[in-house]
Amino acid sequence: MQDDLDTIKTRILAATAAANSLESLERVRVEALGRKGRITALMKGLGAMDPETRKSAGAALNVLKDDVAAAIEARQEDLAGATLDARLMEEKVDVTLPVRAEGRGRVHPITQTIDEVIAIFGEMGFTVAEGPDIEDDWHNFTALNIPPEHPARQEHDTFYLPGMAGGHRRVLRTHTSPVQIRTMGEQKPPLRIIVPGRTYRCDYDATHSPMFHQVEGLVVDETTHMGHLKGCLIEFCRAYFGVEDLPVRFRPSYFPFTEPSAEVDIGCTRAGGAFRIGHGDDWLEILGCGMVHPKVLENCGIDAARYQGFAFGLGVERIAMLKYGIGDLRTFFESDLRWLRHYGFPALHIPSMVGGLNP
Ligand code: DAH
Repeated sequence: MQDDLDTIKTRILAATAAANSLESLERVRVEALGRKGRITALMKGLGAMDPETRKSAGAALNVLKDDVAAAIEARQEDLAGATLDARLMEEKVDVTLPVRAEGRGRVHPITQTIDEVIAIFGEMGFTVAEGPDIEDDWHNFTALNIPPEHPARQEHDTFYLPGMAGGHRRVLRTHTSPVQIRTMGEQKPPLRIIVPGRTYRCDYDATHSPMFHQVEGLVVDETTHMGHLKGCLIEFCRAYFGVEDLPVRFRPSYFPFTEPSAEVDIGCTRAGGAFRIGHGDDWLEILGCGMVHPKVLENCGIDAARYQGFAFGLGVERIAMLKYGIGDLRTFFESDLRWLRHYGFPALHIPSMVGGLNP
């Protein structure tokens, strides 16, 4: 019996030492000590022995069982330690490696331009107002003195939405002017707002995109006159283009919602094929404006005998293209990262910080 047990022990200890993974060691354990294991089977045999034999055999078996269990446990610890060491080696972080370059985002020229426009008018005391992209006929047209058969409706290449509101189809707003109506309907004069926002017209070429941006302006109070309109817009053009004595000209024009109406041109030169803003013999149109039409004031419940004001509207893409030399309007919306890296702006405008962080 003891010889048998010694052989069994030798074999199990050899298998334990030979096991080179936790899984194979577990198989050795199950074969020896599991429910159907070799040692377990011998333990079960004790019951059939006479008391004397059972006593000595039992003691010997217990010793065997304990020795084997201890050997397996020790091997288990060795293997677990080795596995951990291997993982630690494998997953070692090389702190000397240079950091991976991080993609730095850029501010889109449209956002930048709107921010610049807001900053300039903000200095003059304007606040920002906003309105919905989906408009009804009243706000986009009728209240702005553009009745149903008015030819100006055709010029707007309107996108109509399915469904009706008040007997009319709803539209994607064709300009930011409806926010004039909304603001005058909700607030009492004096008013001094600018309205940056998306606008939509069914048009697509190098200078038109079906979605584009405008900034609207509106001033209403009791004493505002054409001189204020001119002073305000001349100041804006000079500040935006950064040319202190930029020539600015007001040319009579027509808009249904203003009377009188004007278009604003800035001086430029196209000599020798190169385009430059500033002094020159040429003019370039950049925005529309005028004194708010009395009918528009009345449509918003404002007494036109007491109040008056001026309004203007400018195309954001247009003035961004002019200032930053962008040739094709469609590129604003193509989401080409190379384009954005070139024409975009750093998010941090504090020069010392940008310099400090980006040597
Ligand atoms: N809404 C006009 C357009 O989209 C632009 C405009 C012109 C707005 C004159 C105004 C304005 O407020 O007074 O073409």
